[in-house]
Amino acid sequence: MHARMVQTTLVSCLLFAVAVVAGQEPGVRAEGDSPVFAGAKTGTVPPKGPKCLEGEQSLPGRHAFVVQDALKFCKPAKGFWIDLGAGKGQVAIPLIEATGNAVVMIDPNAEAMTEGLQIARDKGMADRLAAVVGVAEAMPLPDNSVDFLVSRGSIFFWKDPAKGLKEVHRVLRPGGKAYIGGGAGSGYPRWAVEELIRLRKENLEGDEAERGKRFVALRRPEQMKAWAIAAGLPSFTVMGKGAISADDPRVGQGVWLMFEKKADE
Ligand SMILES: C[S@@+](CC[C@H](N)C(=O)[O-])C[C@H]1O[C@@H](n2cnc3c(N)ncnc32)[C@H](O)[C@@H]1O
Repeated sequence: MHARMVQTTLVSCLLFAVAVVAGQEPGVRAEGDSPVFAGAKTGTVPPKGPKCLEGEQSLPGRHAFVVQDALKFCKPAKGFWIDLGAGKGQVAIPLIEATGNAVVMIDPNAEAMTEGLQIARDKGMADRLAAVVGVAEAMPLPDNSVDFLVSRGSIFFWKDPAKGLKEVHRVLRPGGKAYIGGGAGSGYPRWAVEELIRLRKENLEGDEAERGKRFVALRRPEQMKAWAIAAGLPSFTVMGKGAISADDPRVGQGVWLMFEKKADE
C-alpha cells in the first residue's frame, strides 16, 4: 500500500478528501490486457499507441464535448466533484471552466496529474483543481460524500471495473450522479467522428488487429452493462453504441454509463 498527496490547495469542501488519501500501489497489467497500456505498468505514462490512436490525436479535442453531455444528462448539484482516471485533467479542467465548481482528480498516474495541476495553475484556476493518487477500485474517499463523478476513457483500463463501479456507488452521496465511459460527445463535428471511426476500423486489420479488436470489445454497450450488473448497481442507463459507431444521437460516438444513487441505497 502506498499513500501520496500531490497537492492540497483548495476549497474546504475538497480538503477532507485529500486528507484521507490512501491510494494503492499500481499493479502490472498482462500483455494485451489493454489496447493502449499493454505491457506497461499502470500509473506510468503510456507508451505510444497503435497508429490509429496516434492519428486520433490529430483530430479536434473531444473533452469539452463530453463535459457538455455530462452536464446536460446529470445536471449535477454543486459540491464535491471527482474526475476519476483523470490523467492530465483533460475533463476536469473544461468542467471547471464550464461551471466554476472545484474538481478533485483521482488517478494512479501522479506525473500526469502534476501536469494537469500546472495547466490549471497557468489558467488561473489552481484554487479549484486538486489531485489524489489512487485507483477506482479503492478510492480514498468517505462513503456518501461525492455529488458528481465523471470518468472518461478510464474504466477500460481498470483492473476490476465491477469493483470500481461498486466503489463509485459507495462514495456517491444520495442524489449524487456518475457519468462513466468513453467517447467524443454528441457535439463533436460529424467529419471528425467519421474520421475517428474510419481510423479505428482500419485498425481492426493488419499488425494491430488484436489490439484494435480488444479496444472495440471493451467499449461495447453490452460490456458496460455487464460491468454495471456485476457491480450490483440498482439502476443505471447505458448510452452509446461503442467505439466504431455514432448511431446514438444522445452521446454520438462512444459508450457511457450513467447512474444516480438513491436515498435508500
Ligand atoms: C486514456 S487515459 C484517460 C485520461 C482522461 N480522463 C481523458 O479523458 O483523456 C486513462 C487514465 O486512466 C487511468 N487509470 C488506469 N487504471 C486506473 C484505475 N484502476 N483507476 C483509476 N484510473 C486508472 C490511467 O492512469 C490514465 O490516466
